Amino acid sequence: MSEQARYAVVGNPIEHSLSPRIHTAFAEQTGESLVYERLLAPLEGFRDSVERFFAEGGAGLNVTVPFKQQAWETAGRHEPRAARAGAVNTLWRETDGTLVGDNTDGAGLVRDLRVNNGVTLAGARILVLGAGGAVRGILEPLLKEAPAEVVIANRTLARAEGLRDLFGDTGAVAASTFEALLGPFDVIINGTSASLQGELPPLPGGLVNPATVCYDMMYSQAETAFNAWARQQGSGLRLDGLGMLVEQAAESFLKWRQVRPDTGPVMAMLRPD
Ligand code: ATR
Repeated sequence: MSEQARYAVVGNPIEHSLSPRIHTAFAEQTGESLVYERLLAPLEGFRDSVERFFAEGGAGLNVTVPFKQQAWETAGRHEPRAARAGAVNTLWRETDGTLVGDNTDGAGLVRDLRVNNGVTLAGARILVLGAGGAVRGILEPLLKEAPAEVVIANRTLARAEGLRDLFGDTGAVAASTFEALLGPFDVIINGTSASLQGELPPLPGGLVNPATVCYDMMYSQAETAFNAWARQQGSGLRLDGLGMLVEQAAESFLKWRQVRPDTGPVMAMLRPD
């Protein structure tokens, strides 16, 4: 039997990452022979950790907080969807030694919305909250779904305007403060890191109607602060980022192994209802 291919997720902290469980389940399901581990990189030692991993024969890495931008800088070539995102969550080495960076986050989000939850994005009015690295990674895949408009709202307006200018050639994008938002929207995606602290951006009323789909890119066993707000506002469908997490993993697995795993059983394993 040939030696098993080695993969890992690299981050800091990393002990709570679900990626090893997800990829191990994908490997069992598809019959791919691989091991997938957690790799804790020192905050000042990301590039060294990556170089060592590949020098020791590693086949591929997922990258999580806080290293996605550094991973972009470390990659010698970027897949088109990663190029403008400025952030990389998937790395592998080509036969000529080039380190390739991809970003599967946006594809994972779009697939979870469209395929798993039947949400129509084409022609939709979409509100995206936040303008940091997480949002940068999802804008191009979202805009490629041809929504009527994507409004980016952020506490610091200049960052939202920066993303509007960067992605404006891909579709209709606008920038706004939270206060100036005028609803309702068909889809609202929370990409702020406020949920991590259980906080919520100061959102005006009237953004949500019963048909509004609310999506928190964070996931948690308990309802997130954003999804609690969405429920109080009357949103009929509230989702958290577990589906996105499993779908971005499946996209990475596909890039590495040329096989697309079935995500349904893995989501059921992680969150049995
Ligand atoms: P990430 O990589 O997770 O996106 P980031 O680049 O630091 O992290 O971006 C965090 C995002 O969450 C930003 O849009 C930030 O708003 P600012 O650009 O104004 O800083 C937003 N954010 C964080 N805490 C917030 C809070 N309490 N209320 C509203 N927005 C918040």
